[in-house]
Amino acid sequence: MSADRPILVLDFGAQYAQLIARRIRECRVLSELVPHDISVEEIRRRDPVGIVLSGGPASVNEPGAPALDAGLFDLGIPVLGICYGMQSMAQALGGEVGRTGTGEFGKTEIEIQSDAVLFHGVPATHTCWMSHNDSVTRLPDGFRATASTAGAPTAAMEHVERRLHAVQFHPEVMHTPMGTEMLERFAYEVCGQDGTWTPQHVIDEQVARIRAQVGDQKVLCALSGGVDSAVAALLVHKAVGDQLTCVFVDHGMLREGEAEQVVETFGNHYKVPLVHVQAQDRFLGLLAGVTDPEQKRKIIGEAFIRIFEEESRRLDGVKFLVQGTLYSDVIESGSKTAAKIKSHHNVGGLPDDMDLELCEPLRLLFKDEVRRVGIELGMPDRMVWRQPFPGPGLGIRIIGDITRERLDILRRADFVLQEEVRAAGWYNQVWQSFAVLPCIKSVGVMGDARTYEYPIIVRAVTSEDAMTADWARLPYDLLERISTRIINEVQGVNRVALDISSKPPGTIEWE
Ligand code: XMP
Repeated sequence: MSADRPILVLDFGAQYAQLIARRIRECRVLSELVPHDISVEEIRRRDPVGIVLSGGPASVNEPGAPALDAGLFDLGIPVLGICYGMQSMAQALGGEVGRTGTGEFGKTEIEIQSDAVLFHGVPATHTCWMSHNDSVTRLPDGFRATASTAGAPTAAMEHVERRLHAVQFHPEVMHTPMGTEMLERFAYEVCGQDGTWTPQHVIDEQVARIRAQVGDQKVLCALSGGVDSAVAALLVHKAVGDQLTCVFVDHGMLREGEAEQVVETFGNHYKVPLVHVQAQDRFLGLLAGVTDPEQKRKIIGEAFIRIFEEESRRLDGVKFLVQGTLYSDVIESGSKTAAKIKSHHNVGGLPDDMDLELCEPLRLLFKDEVRRVGIELGMPDRMVWRQPFPGPGLGIRIIGDITRERLDILRRADFVLQEEVRAAGWYNQVWQSFAVLPCIKSVGVMGDARTYEYPIIVRAVTSEDAMTADWARLPYDLLERISTRIINEVQGVNRVALDISSKPPGTIEWE
């Protein structure tokens, strides 16, 4: 048994394939997503402890449906088929799949055989989440049916000796309340794992890998203040100590206290060699008079890269560059066809033409797993739970001219907003919450005198992945405190407005 050998999830185009891998990881067993047409040799090479065949939108009987190499069942590796995965398993092993009448979609009552391996400890009748038209109509040799529903006489099946199991329903979604338990039975009882893929294990494993990769060479890492680059840097530092140098470019568009926190955490607390580049003047100079959002992003991105290159040239003989690439980036890379809405350069990103090898210690982790590793490494809560913050920073939250004065106004308003959102316990409940400074002024009255000042716009959104978002329903009394404090405490502001647009059609940021 080894915590580093994964359960591979073969993706047949399911909406939920990624979720299957995540649920298995929640059982502290490593799980990785691979395309359904991965070759049997490649599977053998990757040496998994188990295989999951995901669901998918096709019917196994239609021409061109994603096929399964039956040789996979001769590897002697445990297999769990889910929905389409169950049907392709049945078909590949000589069973039959067809229409049994109506399909089943949504919450469905299911009756299970409690002595089936996947169902140990699961109540005999309960609900599960179904989404299928076809069903297994004849079991392959040696299998027995282990569950049934009104629409699917064979809602689950198993062949215990061959360690082959399958369910028609979706154990990975929360509408199957005992689903995680079933995935855990598969991982533990069928695949023989014991849930030792923990944050500490990930740290030990990555430290060993980084040492093997880097040897005694020098490594460079750009810190953004965000959790990904921070955890990546700490892992590398744990592995190779002072061979690592971090570069932190302060472009002057960070939030209140952010630069200080990076310096305090990395320079003082963890004693990571840190180059803190104070480039505020340089950025503000380049941005003077620029109001076009795309132009701003371009200028900030390019200046960042130039500065990073200058700094890395100062450090002799660097061979590796640390990147905080996440597993979600790895899965999605190549599959993205979305139109360019805004040019999302990642400040902290890689200059294309740098001749450095990449060191990516987070490549196997989802964001929440990165956070758990950060906690295990003793990173401060504020950094671990930081909301996403765009690379160009406050620069794309100031509409119009970016000046020192306007940055100060926005920074102070944002500080008040964050303080109140945190105090009310909302910081971790929303995806992002922040202030925006538009380029208009409006009339107000303060202490009997007319004012003509900027408004501040409050933007708070809930989201799963930033692709879509909804405006957060912050309580009125919280909004009232934010408004009162910003108007009282931030000079130059006489009004607070709330953005109640979702994405789409709005975007999260204003530029
Ligand atoms: P939008 O405004 O496109 O933002 O709805 C979606 C998410 O991306 C973040 N964002 C950025 N992140 N560099 C980044 O690293 C950027 O240039 C950038 N622009 C937007 C934004 O904060 C939100 O979470």
